Amino acid sequence: MTVDITLKKEVDNSYKIVIDTLPQLTFNRKVAIVTNPKVAGLHLKYLLEHLQASELYIITVPDGEAYKNQTSIDIITNRLFDHRFNRNSLLIAFGGGVVGDMSGFAASIYQRGIDFVQIPTTLLSQVDASVGGKTGMNNRYGKNLIGAFHQPQAVYIDPYFLTTLPPREFSAGVAEIVKMAVTFNKEFFKFLEEADLNHRETLSEVLAQAVRTKAWVVSQDEKERGIRAALNYGHTFAHVIEKETRYNTYLHGEAVGIGMVMANKLSLALGWMHEEEVDRIAALLEKYNIPTTYDIEDVDAFYEAFYLDKKSSDSAVTFILPRGIGDVTISDSVDERTVKQVLQGFAI
Ligand code: GLY
Repeated sequence: MTVDITLKKEVDNSYKIVIDTLPQLTFNRKVAIVTNPKVAGLHLKYLLEHLQASELYIITVPDGEAYKNQTSIDIITNRLFDHRFNRNSLLIAFGGGVVGDMSGFAASIYQRGIDFVQIPTTLLSQVDASVGGKTGMNNRYGKNLIGAFHQPQAVYIDPYFLTTLPPREFSAGVAEIVKMAVTFNKEFFKFLEEADLNHRETLSEVLAQAVRTKAWVVSQDEKERGIRAALNYGHTFAHVIEKETRYNTYLHGEAVGIGMVMANKLSLALGWMHEEEVDRIAALLEKYNIPTTYDIEDVDAFYEAFYLDKKSSDSAVTFILPRGIGDVTISDSVDERTVKQVLQGFAI
């Protein structure tokens, strides 16, 4: 005997991304702001001036990729239980990508899912991590291997927060912007080559263009069954670099910068990309002080580490490889010999 469960239904996960000064936000429900001590020290007062809720709580988690783990998720969910949050309650992710990913993940699992809003404070989280509903945490096997797709109710991108961002973190965010341009938007790439991001208006235009690109990709492929995977350009390599360096040497965007250079070299070795474009991308990364080199100690170990990445099946490693600026291929059939040859070029 079989019993069918019919679950066909339209789910509308649409939401607005506001790129502007933070508006006044009013919530007639319990709200918890999840943040870290650094962001709280710099910007919590500003957020509280723009926020009203029937009950408001602040949850702080330690700062940094090394803390994007089960312990921090427990801190968040236990505090929600302490304060008797229910399924109508709301989380606000207030910080960078780590806070955003963890808050979203906590929201996705707390009582089987509650709403959350993203108020990203770093460039990387404003242009990429806060948009698209990828949430998660790291474990000893690698980065973001535990997680869920859980779309926010809204994203508020206020360029004001970037005024206190350290230069290194700003550059790390630019790496994800370059990623968006190389994968989907040649004109945007040219714009970035000429742009001066110290100008407020240029920066706002770049934020809008990057978010529009990301929003378009997510609208086509929310759950990463197809083209959204192209946004993992550089990440196959970056995740190994971050893990090898125990998440304490490179910011995520910096590792992505190096990873994009590695992906380009692989594309070059396969004859898919011209050297001139490889050089243009490296030059753009260097213009924004994004690292482009890494010393691989053990090529075999680096290669084996690809297999722990969730974007790879048992039998193949998936690489996102440009064919040129604005044109990318997702390939899981690159032969081991060519990959190792390219990695050898980075070996000490
Ligand atoms: N950060 C890549 C994505 O959201 O798909």
